[in-house]
Parts: sequence; C-alpha cells; structure tokens
Amino acid sequence: MPQDHHRKTRRLVERAAARALRAARSAYELQPRWRPLGLARQQRSLDAAGYIDHPAPVTRLLAARLDEADVSEIKDAIGRAPKLAGQFASAGGTPSEQRLLLSFGIWLGVDAACQKTGLRPLQPPPEVHAMARGPLAAAGGLYEADMVVETLATAEIDFADMRSVLDFGCSSGRVLSVLAAAYPQVRLSGCDPNSGAIAWASEHLPAASFFVSPQHPPLDLPDGSLDLVYAISIWSHFAPALGLRWLEEMHRLLRPGGLLLLTTHGLTSLHHYLASGERLPTQVEEIMAALYRHGTWYANEFGEDGDWGVKDPEWGTAFLTAEWLLAHLCPRFHVLAFLPGRNQGNQDVYLLRRS
Ligand SMILES: C[S@@+](CC[C@H](N)C(=O)[O-])C[C@H]1O[C@@H](n2cnc3c(N)ncnc32)[C@H](O)[C@@H]1O
Repeated sequence: MPQDHHRKTRRLVERAAARALRAARSAYELQPRWRPLGLARQQRSLDAAGYIDHPAPVTRLLAARLDEADVSEIKDAIGRAPKLAGQFASAGGTPSEQRLLLSFGIWLGVDAACQKTGLRPLQPPPEVHAMARGPLAAAGGLYEADMVVETLATAEIDFADMRSVLDFGCSSGRVLSVLAAAYPQVRLSGCDPNSGAIAWASEHLPAASFFVSPQHPPLDLPDGSLDLVYAISIWSHFAPALGLRWLEEMHRLLRPGGLLLLTTHGLTSLHHYLASGERLPTQVEEIMAALYRHGTWYANEFGEDGDWGVKDPEWGTAFLTAEWLLAHLCPRFHVLAFLPGRNQGNQDVYLLRRS
C-alpha cells in the first residue's frame, strides 16, 4: 500500500515537472536570440533538465582566446591524465567539452589556459566554503556564469552592458572569478555572511570587490546603485518571510529597470530529488502538499552548526512555487524569464526587472 502511494506521488510529481519543463522548453527553443550567441542547429543536444545544451556564451568567449596550438597542448595534457581523459572523451563535442577543456587546462597548469583566458586556478582550502572542488571546478563556475549570461540573453540583454553587478551570496567567488575573466570592463562585487569565504575571495580574486554581508537586510550600499544582482542557490534557502524582506532590499538596491536573477527550488526540484534519491518519497510528498496548499515549504535543515558556521533559523531549505513568488513580486518587479529546472535540472531560474 505505501509502495502504491509512493508510485502515485512519483507520477504526480513527474507530470507536474514535465509540464513545467515542456512549457519552458518551447519558450526557450523559440528564442531567435540564441543565433547571435552562435548556437548552430546541428549542435543542439539536451541537458539534464531537457533544455537545449546551451550556447555557453562565456565558455565560448574564453575558449576563443586560445589558438589551435593551445587547444592541442591542453588536449595532450588531458590525454596524459587517464581519469580526466575519460571524462573529456564522454563530453563529445558539446559545450560541456569546452568547459572541461578550460577547467582541466587550468587544473593541469597548462600555461596558455591560465594566461590567455584570464581564468584563475580556483582552489580554496578545505576549510573555506566552496560549492565545488577538484578538476571539474578548477576554472571556477563556468556553468553558472554561462547560465547567468544566457538567461539575460533570453531577454535580449547583454551582460557586457552592465556597469555594476552584485553576486549576492557569492561564497568564495567561483562565478565572479569567471565573469571577471570574461568581462573585465564590468564592475563586479560579491557579498556573503561567510567571512572565511569572503576573506579568501578578497585575497585571491582582485578583479572583483567583496564584503561580508549580514544575515538580514539591509546591505550597506546606496539606493539604486546596482544594474544587476544575481543570486544562485540563495532564495532556495531563505525562510519565506526573510526571502520577501531580501526581495524588498533588492528592489531598493537596483536602479529603476535594474535586473534580479535568482534561483529557487520548485516543482522540478521535487522531481530531481525523487529521481536522485536525495529525498525520500514521504518527504517529497510533504513538500508537494505544502507547495500546492501554501506555495512554500521551509525547514531549518542546517541544524545547530549552521551552514559552514552561518547560523540563522531563517536560513535552511526552501521550496517556492512561481505563483507564490510572483504574487508577492509583481508589479514591483516584472518577469522577463522563468526557466523551470534550468539550474542543473533542479532549481528554477527567474529573471526579474525592477519596475
Ligand atoms: C548554496 S551556497 C551558493 C554559493 C554561490 N552562490 C555559488 O553558487 O557558488 C549559499 C551561500 O549563501 C550564503 N548565505 C547564507 N546566508 C546568506 C544571506 N543571508 N545572504 C546572502 N547569502 C547568504 C552562504 O554562506 C553560502 O555561501
């Protein structure tokens, strides 16, 4: 009986997630704006979330700084490292292959990869917070930087036109590091309550400025001082009331017409966690019921030690529906893009314009 019940849950979640994905995918495929980013038809493949595997504009821009001899040198070095060579071979011509070329080139210390791209080796020590480590993460958050720039492109906005950008909740700066290499003309800053991560980023990433931020608003920045705030895996952690207060603060910080890009757990995340087995069907059911009833689910899952020492009962794990978020945001923000599951087949991505 419980088995049947779980099967039913799985079917419901899969259907809801598939519906959201289908809607997003058709919107995404219809974007004529991908063409200038160099996505040739025959190169299309689907990523984990079922999106076209992406134009990867930042990765392309950085990889284009390498000439053929540089690429051969990196490939030779990868060939001499059997584990990396296996991973590289299985990426087979997709944008992920270019990301691996850059990441492994940096990991293996190939001069051209380090000097010509502007990427920096990013290896915070184990005691410093970082979302990813090792060869795949050696060049920083290429996937996330691509996701930010591509999402703007869906609204025909060029990241290169931004003057002042904040990475809200930047940890040790993996995404800023990539954006700084690609767009040296843009003023980049990052903040996070994790003082160890901010100290490390300040020392190792001089191309951006960093500051320790409080758990609760406000930030020590003037009104209307930012063109773009992006926040990856931040609203997926705020208790709903605190999340709303921070959205108000983003409204204050952005200039009129400024942009907010954020990611949240939503219905597609339920599917992701069921499929990966990271959450039990009973919990997925509980979250799904809460989402259908209230539009939100929150639990303080970090416990007494907090999240790498960042402690706050309102910083845990949150799921939000688009309906709930937009009911609170609009009309103070307009929605420019909503991409369910676009972040790693898990979190939804929203691009909002401050009214
Ligand atoms: C899941 S990590 C994501 C880090 C980064 N955005 C990335 O993708 O690499 C969440 C980050 O949010 C930070 N954080 C915790 N409380 C926060 C708050 N109130 N405001 C902003 N960031 C916060 C954490 O310290 C952590 O670095």
